[in-house]
Amino acid sequence: MSLELRLSGKTAIVTGGSAGIGLATAKALYSEGVNVAIAARNPERLENAVSAIQSLPSQGAKVIAISADLTQAESIEKVVSTTLQQFSQIDILINNAGSARAGSFLDLADEAFIDAWNLKLLGYIRLVRAVVPHLQSRRDGRIVNIIGGAGRTPRPSFLPGGTTNAALLNFTKGISKELAQYNIRINAISPGATATERAERLAEQNAQIRGVSVEQIKAESLQAIPLGRIAQPEEIAALALFLVSDFAASITGTEIIVDGGQTPGV
Ligand SMILES: NC(=O)c1ccc[n+]([C@@H]2O[C@H](COP(=O)([O-])OP(=O)(O)OC[C@H]3O[C@@H](n4cnc5c(N)ncnc54)[C@H](OP(=O)(O)O)[C@@H]3O)[C@@H](O)[C@H]2O)c1
Repeated sequence: MSLELRLSGKTAIVTGGSAGIGLATAKALYSEGVNVAIAARNPERLENAVSAIQSLPSQGAKVIAISADLTQAESIEKVVSTTLQQFSQIDILINNAGSARAGSFLDLADEAFIDAWNLKLLGYIRLVRAVVPHLQSRRDGRIVNIIGGAGRTPRPSFLPGGTTNAALLNFTKGISKELAQYNIRINAISPGATATERAERLAEQNAQIRGVSVEQIKAESLQAIPLGRIAQPEEIAALALFLVSDFAASITGTEIIVDGGQTPGV
């Protein structure tokens, strides 16, 4: 059996597709012949990402960039309508844009929570609501929510992100049964430490909170991972590709944790 994903000709929206896990996933989809719309705020980073994606061999796929602040409800509509104008269809949604900051609980004002909930919790929910009517009419849809281990394993220094992720797990599982009747599958990937710019920023913030060096924070993180390695964004992208392919045709409402064995749970 060969792992032919048969995704060529489909169209995907990847939020936060200009960096890190989102960019790796956009690249992986494009290489499989999927038309990709990447959405993020910074236009220059988006342009660079489009050039990087276009430099890859593809099977006739196209990539477009949509500059949008996904904390704003209007931006969600813009992302969906621009994708439909360009590609006439939507098959795949990768909800990925998130940027909660680390901080000690007593130092965090409401804004830290509200910003995290607006971008990631409401942003993901709004995008699902906006794409579902299109997926329903095609009786086919594949959604992956990139969530994160702090949803199940909370940390005192990451409560805005942890509360966002816990709520998104509830949402992903809660909506999966309703979407299944239209052959729309929705799953979550929860990365542990993954080598992106964001992981660097979080290490710096954690170092500041604890008054230790960034190197010490990184060494401690690595030591806590049984497999002894930080995941690469391409590993998360590969799993997302599998989940949106027909190999996962019977998988919905589930969460796959990619954390080197750090939180096995039961
Ligand atoms: N890396 C990890 O260790 C890790 C672990 C667990 C979970 N995760 C989750 O994985 C996802 C991706 O993380 P990452 O590490 O790849 O992050 P990253 O490298 O910081 O990339 C974040 C992407 O989201 C975009 N973005 C940020 N704020 C946005 C906004 N308001 N509107 C639209 N786009 C926005 C960024 O572009 P602009 O700034 O230009 O908008 C960028 O494209 C996040 O949901 C994160 O919580 C990551």
